[in-house]
Amino acid sequence: MNADDMKMAVANAALDWVQENTIIGVGTGSTANLFVDALASSNLQIDGAVASSEATAERLKAAGIDVHDLNSTGPLSVYIDGADEADANLHLIKGGGGALTREKIVAAASDKFICIADASKKVAVLGDFGVPVEVIPMARSYVAREIVKLGGDPELRDQFRTDNGNVILDILNMQVTNPIELEQQLNQLAGVVSCGLFAQRPADVLLLGNADGSVEKIMGAKN
Ligand code: A5P
Repeated sequence: MNADDMKMAVANAALDWVQENTIIGVGTGSTANLFVDALASSNLQIDGAVASSEATAERLKAAGIDVHDLNSTGPLSVYIDGADEADANLHLIKGGGGALTREKIVAAASDKFICIADASKKVAVLGDFGVPVEVIPMARSYVAREIVKLGGDPELRDQFRTDNGNVILDILNMQVTNPIELEQQLNQLAGVVSCGLFAQRPADVLLLGNADGSVEKIMGAKN
């Protein structure tokens, strides 16, 4: 099985977590896109979705699924999204597509966070992917200097603006041995909107697609 097949397998498996007649949160990226396709071809009846990016909103609309503003929905039953890396505690790195802030908001507003990923995303220690940090443009140099003090190498994502009009600094060459602490440290820097570490609010369930076609279900500590 190639990576796309594995992503498809977990996208389909995530349908089991969709509660009918509720509004759900939907993430961003190639795996989340496959979930939208799976949802559109299923018989599940939902009341619509909140999207974590403009791109996902467009994909949902094209699939005939109503897109809601989070301010009008109240809590969401479930959030389904991919990840760039996941560890055994279901701490994640996200933001490869640059949608980390809206992803974090939608995850926070959801009762359950189901992360879907192919097996290559599971790591022993987070960090090789890099840690994306969304930054207000005028704070870019200041935040970069603070990241160096924390031991990382900040790299400005080239020619990129987030849906919120901000820039991304990717922190390279950093092994994230304490994701909760680093998430707090990054969040506290003036000018940081959010960082791509999802550790304070990890996933509740990780569905991992394996090369043999199986889907492994890893439950978070709270479940
Ligand atoms: C988007 O900003 C990211 O957080 C994605 O969830 C992450 O990059 C996973 O993307 P893929 O499903 O394309 O690997």
